[in-house]
Amino acid sequence: MLKENELKKEVTRRRTFAIISHPDAGKTTLTEKLLLYGGAIRLAGTVKSRKSKKYAVSDWMEIEKERGISVTSSVLQFDYNDYRINILDTPGHQDFSEDTYRTLMAADSAVMLIDGAKGVEEQTKKLFEVCRMRGIPIFTFVNKLDRYCKNPFELMEEIESTLGIRSYPMNWPIGIEGDFQGVYNRKLSQIELFKDEGDGRQTIIQAKAGKIEDEEIKRYLGEHLSNQLCEDVDLLDIAGDEFDLKKIKTGKLTPLFFGSAMTNFGVKFLLEEFLNLAHSPIPRISTEGPINPESPLFSGFVFKIQANMNPAHRDRIAFIRLCSGKFYKGMEVTHVRRGKQIKLSQPQQFLAQDRIIIEEAYAGDIIGVFDPGVFNIGDTLCEGKQSFNFEGIPVFPPEYFASVNIVDVSKRKQFIKGINQISQEGAIQVFKPIYDGNGNPIIGVVGLLQFEVLEYRLKNEYGVDIKIDILSYCASRWIIGQKVKKEELGYTESTKLVEDQYQRQVVLFKEKWSLKKVIENNKDIQFMEIPPNN
Ligand code: G4P
Repeated sequence: MLKENELKKEVTRRRTFAIISHPDAGKTTLTEKLLLYGGAIRLAGTVKSRKSKKYAVSDWMEIEKERGISVTSSVLQFDYNDYRINILDTPGHQDFSEDTYRTLMAADSAVMLIDGAKGVEEQTKKLFEVCRMRGIPIFTFVNKLDRYCKNPFELMEEIESTLGIRSYPMNWPIGIEGDFQGVYNRKLSQIELFKDEGDGRQTIIQAKAGKIEDEEIKRYLGEHLSNQLCEDVDLLDIAGDEFDLKKIKTGKLTPLFFGSAMTNFGVKFLLEEFLNLAHSPIPRISTEGPINPESPLFSGFVFKIQANMNPAHRDRIAFIRLCSGKFYKGMEVTHVRRGKQIKLSQPQQFLAQDRIIIEEAYAGDIIGVFDPGVFNIGDTLCEGKQSFNFEGIPVFPPEYFASVNIVDVSKRKQFIKGINQISQEGAIQVFKPIYDGNGNPIIGVVGLLQFEVLEYRLKNEYGVDIKIDILSYCASRWIIGQKVKKEELGYTESTKLVEDQYQRQVVLFKEKWSLKKVIENNKDIQFMEIPPNN
């Protein structure tokens, strides 16, 4: 029997977070450095980086080729001091963003990484918005300080004006704008100097501590830099926000760290302060009210499904975020949507490049289990007599549509299987035309790249060649609570009535005006932009 204080101890030491950033800001580099602190990997370079920066479909294929590695690095677990850390990786490309958004549902906090020279970029804004909606704490790391960066006050201003969150600098750069010397640590009131050993990219850093007033520090910095620093720190103390832990924990104030992931400057400070300030798993909302992570019975939800992770085995892994209690290998749980008991087999956790079969896990952890094809994203699993659902995972309305035809009709069975499996992963949405039943499904996606990915995966994983014809629909609306006939809607030229995979009616629109008119002329019909939870 699980002792109450054992569970409490395990939950309290867990920190589960995601790193959000725009591609190229240094997420791979930072993750790698964090793992080094945890002793999870011995050498830098272990975390897979996407070499090509064009982010075309070929990059995705490259990732696919090394799927075992890239996917295992999507959830990483390691220990540091007494903490158990789970890092959720979030794919960088915008066309993978749906997957990323869902992954953020599994995180309790986020580290937002910003390239100091570029400031807040597009992808970061979108990801930040999802974190804000959830009210989770966000820690900001301004990276690449070893080279030219924007003025730190300007960066603070940019974070506030573009993201609407105020920041509290935990440290402050000395000699930025191409002349980075080190930082002033506000918590310890000390200077930490950084020394370039001059051996190229693998620069060795040395931190030296001393008070801002120390003559030695002043001499080292020179008059200009030390005066500048005194002025900056005074300004921060007078005009800046106060350190407010409550605001940090509710995502209203972001602790701001300056450093350089590549040269490993400021990473340890970020890690230690993050562990200190971020909260351990907190109660999650369910249909039965908040579920306390320290409640002894296991519960969790599926936030990601990945098929064919290992091409040799054609396996399918469902990623589960544990929300309460303890998980034991081989345990039976209720799969709430189907109202059935299910044994969670081959539970795995991920450590750098390795997948390991685990014996147990606690609230806050992420486990991967073998999925025999029964799970959907958002499914809740719980132990014993419990039966509730965790709040839904957001689904995003498709923006692009295409008719998909198979080249060789004898492959129809594999085609259907592939389409169904890929749609269960949440990468595409499948619609069936109701009236012109020629059998060709219509596929809806959030980003155009997904069509190429679909074509590639059907060919490589299912042996099916397809032809994709992009359709000119630009929007969709789900019809709630009733079935309608197409004549009732009007505008037949620019609208199309289809069914989704759950036989719910959906209207596709070619133009925004027809969408507006159909909604205006059918006030008795309830239309929804986002598909209701399944
Ligand atoms: P990502 O996962 O966010 O896409 O970024 P990644 O870590 O791959 O880093 C993108 C580029 O930025 C890499 O350079 C990386 O070395 C560099 N970088 C990361 N952190 C820092 C830093 O603190 N300072 C500096 N100056 N550069 C940094 P690359 O040349 O594109 O790739 P590589 O040849 O180094 O692998």
